Amino acid sequence: MWHNAGAQSDGRDAMSSQVLAAYREYLNPNYASFLERLGLDSTVAEAKGALIRDHRGREYVDFVAGYGVFNLGHNPQRVVMAVRSEFDGAPLWNRPFLSAPLAELAARLVDLAPGDLSRVFICSTGAEAVESAIKLARLATGRPQIVAAEGAFHGFTLGALSVSGVPPQSRPFRPLLPGVRHVPFGDVDALSAAVSSDTAAVLLEPIQAEIGAETPPVGYLPAAREICDRAGALLVIDEVRTGMGRTGPLFAVELERVTPDVLILGKSLGGGIVPIGALVARPQIWGRFGLSFAMSASSFAGNRLACVAALATLATLAEEDVMANAQLAATTLWEGLTDLVAGYPGLVNGLTGKGLLLGVHFQNSHVVEEVVCRAIRKGLLIGAAFCNSRRILIEPPLIITLAEVRRGLGVLWEALGEVTPAP
Ligand SMILES: Cc1ncc(COP(=O)(O)O)c(C=O)c1O
Repeated sequence: MWHNAGAQSDGRDAMSSQVLAAYREYLNPNYASFLERLGLDSTVAEAKGALIRDHRGREYVDFVAGYGVFNLGHNPQRVVMAVRSEFDGAPLWNRPFLSAPLAELAARLVDLAPGDLSRVFICSTGAEAVESAIKLARLATGRPQIVAAEGAFHGFTLGALSVSGVPPQSRPFRPLLPGVRHVPFGDVDALSAAVSSDTAAVLLEPIQAEIGAETPPVGYLPAAREICDRAGALLVIDEVRTGMGRTGPLFAVELERVTPDVLILGKSLGGGIVPIGALVARPQIWGRFGLSFAMSASSFAGNRLACVAALATLATLAEEDVMANAQLAATTLWEGLTDLVAGYPGLVNGLTGKGLLLGVHFQNSHVVEEVVCRAIRKGLLIGAAFCNSRRILIEPPLIITLAEVRRGLGVLWEALGEVTPAP
């Protein structure tokens, strides 16, 4: 183990130096430099709720939540205890025997999912769930085409990158999956024109997180539902980011009362403790996908720890005050950010999103980088949207307190006040 052995002549401690050097040598030198530039070249010593303390003793209010993994905050005790007690007795994976936590999780997700969604596949990541949804749609319809949205992000595997609508991320890996067509997000006419009898599925996020909480006009998802129904195509909704209470209800599709054919989940479903991905689908389309062992399997799919963590996460969301707290925090955050937009018209020019998934739009990306760096140094963990350097994505844990929201807003005000708009 590497230990902190005090400060060095360059002001950096031994821990940071060793870890950074290993990142540079063995992992990713660009990422190491990026963290250093942001002042995040430290390791986490302690994290609880929406607060993180690094090994140098600096405290941060978390407006990132592990990019949407920590909806329940850091170290959510109910999930931690459930996983810990699982270690103490049962084998961690029991294929080819039956798994009670897997069966229980499937039943629970069916209970919670909208409409008649009642077939479940549990895997290990959001991208794996997206891949599985593409395969399911092709099998169920016998059609080749997937219609997806510009600006969407669905993960880093080749299939998920192919349906993502962010060319800078996917271009280096061409050729991508054939049969994918992208349309402008939120444009009903464009979607309608693109969907045909060749379309297996329309794949959409309710809000596009990685481009900076891009939010479609009201009525877009119901219109997508109708377009799919007319063409006999499936509506697949990716709620890896928007699910588990992030936008208000448990799933964002509930905001517009839409029942998709397939719901994709991941990230915070595992409570931030164990990796997980999930599909919940209509029984009519499950057929060949569900019957084929090889179609819906991977070594860790349905992993016992992941299922136990997900069950504890769902119980926490159902039985504790998390979603009510998120609603209060969201109102405070929205009001505070609206004031911020009004207060800095030369720097900031918009606010989008819902619940605790919000995008603050800036005039240019240099300002974003400067604001982010300054805010981090002042104790607010914040970041630019991964696919849009002109927006800051704000995505705190749902359990964040109102005092912490206000503290974060205060830091943002200060950071903006110190930034001069680029000429
Ligand atoms: C909407 C959405 N779908 C899918 C994914 C991929 O999930 P994972 O990183 O678990 O593969 C992400 C990741 O950020 C995402 O935001």
